[in-house]
Order: sequence, then structure tokens, then C-alpha cells
Amino acid sequence: MRVNRENRGPSNKLLNEVTEKLHGVLTLTQNIVVTAAIPYANADLHIGHLRSTYIPADVYTRYLRLKGQNVIYVCATDEHGTPISLRAEKEGVTPKAITDKYNKTIHEDLISVGCSFDNFSRTTTQLHHEQTQRFFRRLLEKNYIYRDEYEQLFCPKCNRFLPDRYVEGECPHCGGDKARGDACDVCGRYLKPTELTKPYCVSCGTTPETRKTVHWFFKLSAFQDFLHKWLEKNRDFPPNVRNYALEWLREGLRDWCITRDLDWGVPVPVGDSKEKVIYVWFDAPIGYISSTREWACHKGDAEEWKVFWQQEDSKIVHFIGKDIIYHHAIFWPAMLQAHGDYTLPYKIVAGEYLTLEGKKMSKSREWVIGVKEYLEKFEPDPLRYYLIAVSPLTKDADFSWAEFIRKNNDELADILGNFIHRTLAFTYRFFDKRIPKAEEIDDPDQRILETITNVKHEVEVFLEKQEFHRAIRSIMGLAATGNRYLNAQEPWKAVKENPQKAANTLYLSNQIVKALSILLEPFLPFTAERMWALLNLPGSIHEQKWGEIDMELASNHVIKKPEPLFSKIDSTTQLR
Ligand code: 2FM
Ligand code: ZN
Repeated sequence: MRVNRENRGPSNKLLNEVTEKLHGVLTLTQNIVVTAAIPYANADLHIGHLRSTYIPADVYTRYLRLKGQNVIYVCATDEHGTPISLRAEKEGVTPKAITDKYNKTIHEDLISVGCSFDNFSRTTTQLHHEQTQRFFRRLLEKNYIYRDEYEQLFCPKCNRFLPDRYVEGECPHCGGDKARGDACDVCGRYLKPTELTKPYCVSCGTTPETRKTVHWFFKLSAFQDFLHKWLEKNRDFPPNVRNYALEWLREGLRDWCITRDLDWGVPVPVGDSKEKVIYVWFDAPIGYISSTREWACHKGDAEEWKVFWQQEDSKIVHFIGKDIIYHHAIFWPAMLQAHGDYTLPYKIVAGEYLTLEGKKMSKSREWVIGVKEYLEKFEPDPLRYYLIAVSPLTKDADFSWAEFIRKNNDELADILGNFIHRTLAFTYRFFDKRIPKAEEIDDPDQRILETITNVKHEVEVFLEKQEFHRAIRSIMGLAATGNRYLNAQEPWKAVKENPQKAANTLYLSNQIVKALSILLEPFLPFTAERMWALLNLPGSIHEQKWGEIDMELASNHVIKKPEPLFSKIDSTTQLR
């Protein structure tokens, strides 16, 4: 039998009323779709991707599930575009062979680090092609897409146009070499192939010529005012997203070429556009919708995707890396608005970069930690912890092995693990595996219950603002409070001299352990599940509700034999 804390005494009841008034009560169930940027299916992910996008999105979704929201977490692999077709060409395989391989490994890696997707799709599905083509046709009908002549680079030797990454040259803005036809890695500017200085075909090195071709354009310029108002209105968008986007708007929006002369991609669904495909950045975000539709089909209610995308109160939350703010805060809302049937994004959360030992990660320079590589040696939860706790998501962060080991040993093992283990071990040993009976609870015991309630509210407030690092700090603060409480109450001594004092102490410490298990579920899902099992509570931690934090573990409840939750990492350990 578990007891709701509100029934236990006047002081908690009062506290609950006060805190509810302070923070408001989330009683309404909302339809929320959380998306994580869909990675290109041409390379495995590294820990920087986890930090900027996939782990924060997972933490947020898990929290919303615990809160009882109708939330789904969708993702996919982004399987079109020149990065993939070009690589296939270089390796002499089909693009599909590449995307088959990476769709599988990317998905496996994300699952291994605990990403709890409701659906993980691909942009090469028939459903997605149809969805994209329908979207395109709709914009065409509404005159937001038009055809125009366009000058493009053409390689006379390869006898083809050179879209995006098929051409390289010097950047016209910073002079950086090896700028690609779509962007310069040195200064980060987006480019058109014709803007490159000294262009050359990446396949054969020939200097291309300029030729006219016909392409399709999205009237992005028509959305300048709309986007400005929308961004102005959404004052709680993270500042990095709002500021970047407003800055681009100040430069003025130009119409956007949304087709390419390629045979890999979603075919342009109209006219004589054979051998033209829709630009990957047009179809990619539609992938979020397609993945939701696929989820609905698997669930057996093909129309259910609409509650997440087409109801006035649908909440669409995008998690992305900072390099693709433009696409999500400019192109995408304009596309949705042009279409007319969709709700606009409710939040766009953009994670900043992760460096490795102070230096930019780079696959070609082998200065990177792949997800797989990490998982060969360590458990996923210490990495999730590091990536969340290291700094605010909207600030750059660094990964260092020394700091990773310190965080694992001094924080996870010594603070969190130690508190939980001591509580469970003393309970097991001194009270015959049972949660003892508390009597005449007064300070400092009473303060423990208040601290749990306060931390719960604090974490809620931080998570609703996507301040993940503050939320985890607050949870670790609760574990530290538990340790101090144990040290001050010395139940190992009290059990002989004043058994009721020891009973009260361990009753309260176990309440902290139980609260921690739920509070930690979004952050450390594997550890939280083990905590739930050690507490011998029914079902899975992942199916609990946030309100369960306030429900006390009953006296006499029998726990399992404790075992340590974290192992210390030897300070000389190196990944390679
Ligand atoms: O930058 C990238 O890796 C892209 N594949 C992200 C696409 S996110 C969205 F628009 F679908
Ligand atoms: Zn060529």
C-alpha cells in the first residue's frame, strides 16, 4: 500500500497548494510530436549528434510521457541528396545500398543509447515520396511554386549538370578553398554552385560551363513579413534560434530553388520534369510528417497523425543542431504556412556544438568519438549524463575524457550511486529487507519530504524550458541532500541506540530513492529501470507517471538485494 503524500499531514498539503499556485498545474493532455533532425544515411553518428539533438529530444519526450501527455517521438534517416548519391558514385554502389546500411546502424546506435522513438522511418519509403509530392502539388496549386529558367554549372565531360556537392571551388565570401556548391565549411555561408570561384567538377576535375536549365522555385520571399511576425510573437523560442532567424530575415529572403538535375530523390511530380528531383531540403522536414503517418499506420489508425500536425492545438517540437536553424526556422514554417493545413512549430530547440578535448570534431582527421566506439567500452547512461550536465544546450560544450571519468566517478558513483546503495543496503541489513515504519516525523525528516516536492517542481520548470542541465543538477542536488542526511543521522549507529530514529531515516531515504528513480527516468533510463527493480516495484519505470514522485513507498514493502548501480572508471582508461 502506498500513501499519497497529500494525505499525510497539514504541512505537506499546504506546501503542495503553494507550489501548485506557483507553477500552475498541467492538467490538460496535449498532442505533442517531438522530432529529432533526420540524419543523412551516409555516416554513423558521433557523440556530438547525441548532445545537440537526440539525447535532449529523448529526455524531453520521456518527461512528457511521464507527465501523461499524448506525445510521440519521431525520426528517420534522410536518404536523398548529393552527399549520398555522390558517395555511391565514388564507391561504385547504388545510393540505396548506402542508405540501407546506415539506416540500420544509425537506428541501432540511437536505440542503444536509449532513444525511445515511437517511430524511426526513412525518406525512401513510398509513403514519404507520395507525401512530399502531394505537398509539392499543393504549393503549386496555390501558386507558391513556379518554374523558371536558371543558370547552372554543367560538366561537358561528364555531360551533366553539377548540383550542390557535385562541384567545388573557392568560396566567394571568405576565399576558403574546397567550398562546395551548396555551402562553405570555412565561413558557413550557403552558396549556389554558380557563385563559386574557380569551380571544378568533383568527379573529373573539369572546369564546368554555365548552361540554362529550368527549375522549380518556392516563393519564399512572399513569407518575409509572415515569418517576421511569427518569430517576433514566439518570444519563448530559444534565443539562438530567434536571433539567427531574425538576422537572416533582415538580409531579406530570396525565392528558393527546390529541384535538382539528379536521378536520386523524390521525382518532381508534374510536367516534363523527368530526371529532376525535389531538393533534399524540401523533402527532409516533410519526413517528420511521413514518419508520424507511418506510426499511425502501424498503430492501425491511419488518420491519427493529424492530431499531431493539423489541429489548432497540436504542438510540434523540433530538436535540431545549430547548423540547421535556417531550414527549420525559415524554410520549414514558410512551407507549412504555404500549404495551409498544418500547424506551425511550437518550439525549435537548437543544440550547439560539442568539441573534443577543446578541438572541433572531424571524421576525416579521426578526431571524433563514434557512438558505437563509445558503447564498446562504456554504458550509455554515463554518456547521457555527461552530455546533459556539461553545459546548457544552447552553449557550446566540450567532451574531455578526464571530465567524463570525473563525472562518472565523483558524481554518478560517489554521489548518486553511493546514496542509493547505502540506503538500500542499510534497509536490507538492518530492517530485514523491508521499508521501516516511520513515526512522529519531524525535522529534519520532514524537510526531506519537502525537498522531494520542491525538486520535483524545480525539475518540471527546468524541463518545460528545455534547461536540461539545470534539471539534472537539481536532481543530483537531491541525491547530495540524501547523502548529507544519512551522514548526519548515522542510521548504522542509531539502529543500536535509537532504532526508531534509524527507522525514520531509512524510511525517508527510501522515499528519496523512489523519487529519484522517476526523476531520473528521462535522463538515465537504464539506471532508473534498475533502481525500480531494486525497489521491487511492479511494472517498468518507463510506464510510471510523474505524480508517482509524490506517492510514498509503504512501510513493510520488501526490497531486492542491493547491488551497485555505477562502476568507477580507472583514471588511466583511454578509449583507444
Ligand atoms: O543536416 C542534416 O544532417 C540533415 N539530414 C537534417 C535534416 S533535418 C530535417 F529537416 F529533416
Ligand atoms: Zn565532370
